[in-house]
Amino acid sequence: MIRKFSAAAVLCIVLAWRPLGAQTGGAASVSHSAVPARTGIYDVGLDVKVEALLGKMTLEEKVGQLVQYSAGQPTGPGTGRTDYNDMIAKGQIGALFNISTAKETNAYQRLAVEKSRLHIPIVFGLDVIHGFRTEFPIPLGLASTWDPPLVEKAARVAASEASATGIRWTFSPMVDIARDARWGRMAEGAGEDPFLGSAMASAYVHGYQGSRLDAADSVAACAKHFVGYGAAEGGRDYNSTEISEHTLRQVYLPPFHAAVNAGSATIMSAFNSINGVPASANPFTLTQVLRKEWGFRGVVDSDWTSILETIAHGTANDGATAARKSFLAGVDMDMVSSLYHDHLAALVRSGQVPQANIDEAARRVLRLKFALGLFERPYADEAHEAEAMLRPESISLARTAAERSLVLLKNEPAPDTPILPLAGGVQDIALIGPLADDPPSMLGSWAGLGRAEDVVSFHAALAKHVGEQHLFQVKGVGITGGTDEDLAAAVESARKAAVVILALGEHAGEMTGEATSRAHLGLPGRQQELLEKVVATGKPVVLILFSGRPLTLPWAFDHVPAVLAAWFPGIQAGPALVRTLYGESNPSGKLVVSWPRSVGQEPLYYNALSTGRPADKADLSKPPSTGADKYVSRYIDEQNSPQFPFGYGLSYTTFRYGGTELNTKQLKASTLQAEPDGVSQSRTVLTASAEVTNTGSRAGEEVVQIYVRLQGTSVAQPVRSLKGFQRVSLAPGETRKVTFALAPDAFALWNDGNQFAVEPVKVTVWIGPDSAHGAAAALEILP
Ligand code: NOJ
Repeated sequence: MIRKFSAAAVLCIVLAWRPLGAQTGGAASVSHSAVPARTGIYDVGLDVKVEALLGKMTLEEKVGQLVQYSAGQPTGPGTGRTDYNDMIAKGQIGALFNISTAKETNAYQRLAVEKSRLHIPIVFGLDVIHGFRTEFPIPLGLASTWDPPLVEKAARVAASEASATGIRWTFSPMVDIARDARWGRMAEGAGEDPFLGSAMASAYVHGYQGSRLDAADSVAACAKHFVGYGAAEGGRDYNSTEISEHTLRQVYLPPFHAAVNAGSATIMSAFNSINGVPASANPFTLTQVLRKEWGFRGVVDSDWTSILETIAHGTANDGATAARKSFLAGVDMDMVSSLYHDHLAALVRSGQVPQANIDEAARRVLRLKFALGLFERPYADEAHEAEAMLRPESISLARTAAERSLVLLKNEPAPDTPILPLAGGVQDIALIGPLADDPPSMLGSWAGLGRAEDVVSFHAALAKHVGEQHLFQVKGVGITGGTDEDLAAAVESARKAAVVILALGEHAGEMTGEATSRAHLGLPGRQQELLEKVVATGKPVVLILFSGRPLTLPWAFDHVPAVLAAWFPGIQAGPALVRTLYGESNPSGKLVVSWPRSVGQEPLYYNALSTGRPADKADLSKPPSTGADKYVSRYIDEQNSPQFPFGYGLSYTTFRYGGTELNTKQLKASTLQAEPDGVSQSRTVLTASAEVTNTGSRAGEEVVQIYVRLQGTSVAQPVRSLKGFQRVSLAPGETRKVTFALAPDAFALWNDGNQFAVEPVKVTVWIGPDSAHGAAAALEILP
């Protein structure tokens, strides 16, 4: 079985509204002006209803549609409001969030529908990030599957569960590119690559919104945080960003564009400033790019108080100015800050905000509500709410997703054969570490309604597999804290066992996700000490890392024979891990972020620019001694390369790659005119292929990747850029020719004339197992 994702394939999906699947490139060329057949908010049939309702509304009622509050558990500073009932009855609230039962949503909805003058329903939102009740791996783990169809299915499950409670809007997917592991929100996204990030963005949107947004089990997606939030300086959450237009266009915007093309009904504006202008008051990104260039018709929601925060940014000195600037820049709805409620009507009356802009923003919100079918079906079905949750097929999908999210980083002979998979049969296992039996952490940092009791912990699954009598479980130390006695107990238990499994890492809730930037990326607390003491027993050790980011663990990678990155795997953490450790499932996940050796390398990403003094010929393993080793772009005390590159991940079998073959050595730039948006072309102009052989004795799945480099461009381009990937299943000994069809946009860049274009350049193409390997093939693009 082969599943293909190339620039061309992703586009076919976007335009045809088909689920991601085995698409090949070469579909008919689609021009930029062709409007994709999109339903939901793009259904012009809704406009008559919207206009009829809008025509009846007062200014205050229109403004009311632009106001959103958190009525449940706050996830940030609150407004202190408690008067929602009264405001709803007066038509002053358009949306509420953080309520999560059908009973509660229905109670608020009854007020809106029965008491407000125009009976306009409320749209209820929630952060349904990687599952609602059925928790899947965190988004970084889901992306590590490199399996968009699976992610789409996971999002569909989340949509069907959330919608059963009346939640018809999720603040997901987070499509921020994350190049810095210090940033805790790396856990919530798809990593560092815009191509993979775009494929994942489309998959989530299709999954949440389904084939019809007005189906009872669909929810509106919200691609966030627009834009550049992941570029926070120093990896410190909420920090400012400086992003050139070139990097914005080529790196940070593409996943949002993919989400918009997939039909995302809403977009959330970010907290950060971009080149000094707050993203939640930025006319360039919100109006020029999003509305004018991309034709986005949906709702732009602010992030939590991000309109108010423009005062702290320093671009407004009072609430009225903050509201005016954000609104005129293109933010339709105000999440929590209440400034639209307080000021917008007065700003219209004083002539500072045109009435037409209010009409347009209200129109977008109403269109969303009509598109969701809320007017016909405003209430959740309380009697059937529970049936939607934790269905057997959802749980089984959660296990598959968890298995595919695991990335095997190291698996060395200990002493003669690789330590994993563990031998079947009876052997005593010591299971040590604070995350071995920590159900809440398995749920991840943002677990919707996920409950610890739904989790099958690693300890529980392992005990079932090997039998309690063969399992010695000790915590060792906590994620933080721990005593000398705890350490001694762990060593004691390791000594008694044939194999030691260490479950170490971060606390999901406190150390990953929002507001959890870290300046140190090692194991927290005394876990490193625990690791070293256990390894010193000489027993074979398998290290399972639970984290929302790569951790800098050079000692572990030198001394531990087997290391598995498990992220936070969700409710099926235990079964997925046990099946993988014992070889019933063969790891196939690959890294979606470059794994650093040390924090000083951050931000670290494979698709970097070269410099005038690249260090590729220097010996970086020791401090420079000669001029040739010294005056190059390097550290004197660390290598430039990551510990493990983007795209990397081992299997229990091995794969051999043949050479990269191209169907032509030359293309003409004049025949490759890139589309203005740089992503929307489906015409195949190059096919590239390589033979991949399973050289081991087990069946396995390999994610085959294609990268290109353009040289001789008007603006320097990355040393490599991902342009496609395919998941291929190979039986032992089987060879498959894997072919990629590339469209013109694979060769396009945001050039010195500020447009996407294909230039006459030299191209290098690699097909390989990750971003650092693969055989190169040369291609020339002639004028
Ligand atoms: C703040 C977060 O940045 C955002 O991702 C989330 O959707 C909102 N809070 C709502 O909870």
